[in-house]
Amino acid sequence: MHEIKVRLPSGSYKIQIEAGSLGRCGDQIRAVSAAERVVVISDENVWSLYGSQLEAALVNAGFLVDSILIPPGEGSKTMECFARVCGNMADLHVQRDHLIIAFGGGVVGDLAGFAAAVYMRGLPYVQIPTTLLAQVDSSVGGKTAIDLPQGKNLVGAFHQPQIVITDPDLLKTLDKRHLAEGMAEIIKYGAISDEELFVKLEEYGSIEGALPHMEDIIFHCCDTKRVFVEQDERDGGERQKLNFGHSFGHAIEKMGLYRKHSHGEAVALGMVMAAKTGEALGLTPIGTGERLKRIIQAYQLPTKINVEYKELVHHMSMDKKNDHEGHKLILLKAMGKSMIYTVAEAELSTILEDILELAL
Ligand SMILES: NC(=O)c1ccc[n+]([C@@H]2O[C@H](COP(=O)([O-])OP(=O)(O)OC[C@H]3O[C@@H](n4cnc5c(N)ncnc54)[C@H](O)[C@@H]3O)[C@@H](O)[C@H]2O)c1
Ligand SMILES: [Zn+2]
Repeated sequence: MHEIKVRLPSGSYKIQIEAGSLGRCGDQIRAVSAAERVVVISDENVWSLYGSQLEAALVNAGFLVDSILIPPGEGSKTMECFARVCGNMADLHVQRDHLIIAFGGGVVGDLAGFAAAVYMRGLPYVQIPTTLLAQVDSSVGGKTAIDLPQGKNLVGAFHQPQIVITDPDLLKTLDKRHLAEGMAEIIKYGAISDEELFVKLEEYGSIEGALPHMEDIIFHCCDTKRVFVEQDERDGGERQKLNFGHSFGHAIEKMGLYRKHSHGEAVALGMVMAAKTGEALGLTPIGTGERLKRIIQAYQLPTKINVEYKELVHHMSMDKKNDHEGHKLILLKAMGKSMIYTVAEAELSTILEDILELAL
């Protein structure tokens, strides 16, 4: 088993990563909670695959278990669904001494985490992430949120879990597209701060090649995120490096109205653009963008895009990290080393015009 301790002023907790741990998680949860009752919040897919296994593990550890299910997918990260979940919690007479368990991908983690953050001004909760993206990214760091029609993740809170229990065996039922989504974030961790991980991913060469090593990969990603989160829990400085590829990626997602490219696909394209932007500025070693492109292709993520550079820059100009000096980007000093760098809009436009002329 891999274990990571996240130490924060707002509370410390462990991330435990072990294949097969879902069946044993009752004892791990009992070790951090004296609650009599737990409420599991999950989505219908995850619950139908693994609900009975989780319920049995919790009952064996002496918990009384209720569950609240939401429809799968981003469409559930809404005010309406959030209100329904809170209403269900009230119907179940959930009290301060109850424990919430977020059991699912990033959607469940964000929604259940936010409900736990604000219901009765805050309840303790546990994350059991079930997608690769949730296991390497969204379950770590305490960010919770729901979407508004005006934008994603606009209403949320920081709320750290009591423990994160990660079972890589659950990935066996996850489809290829969602595995690739998680791989985009994993490649990101390698690119911004872990060259050794990046080289290993190059050696594994494909999703199938990486899967047997997932416990180890997840550990390295969570540990990298831990370092950034411990330095900067509220995302005002170093933690922003986790957004490598995301300023470009968010713009790409928006331009396709969130239908054309998934988040991971957009971030994959964004990472290549960020690397090539760094190269054009003379800050990133030449060839880094092509190296990223090769690995992204190997992990079944897109490397080609046909967009108008002016439109891309326009959408990027809405990024909340920007200031009056220009676009605040995360660039690579080398593979495995990142920096925060502000580039003026006119200069970024010229660079992107050149990069996009070659369709990346
Ligand atoms: N809080 C954070 O720090 C943070 C970071 C990154 C992303 N996010 C959020 O995460 C969300 C995306 O998360 P996601 O990609 O996990 O999507 P998701 O939660 O919608 O899960 C994707 C799909 O996989 C299914 N699924 C989940 N686990 C499964 C399993 N083990 N086997 C088979 N199917 C399974 C789900 O039912 C769903 O249909 C976004 O809303 C994003 O904003 C949050
Ligand atoms: Zn992301």
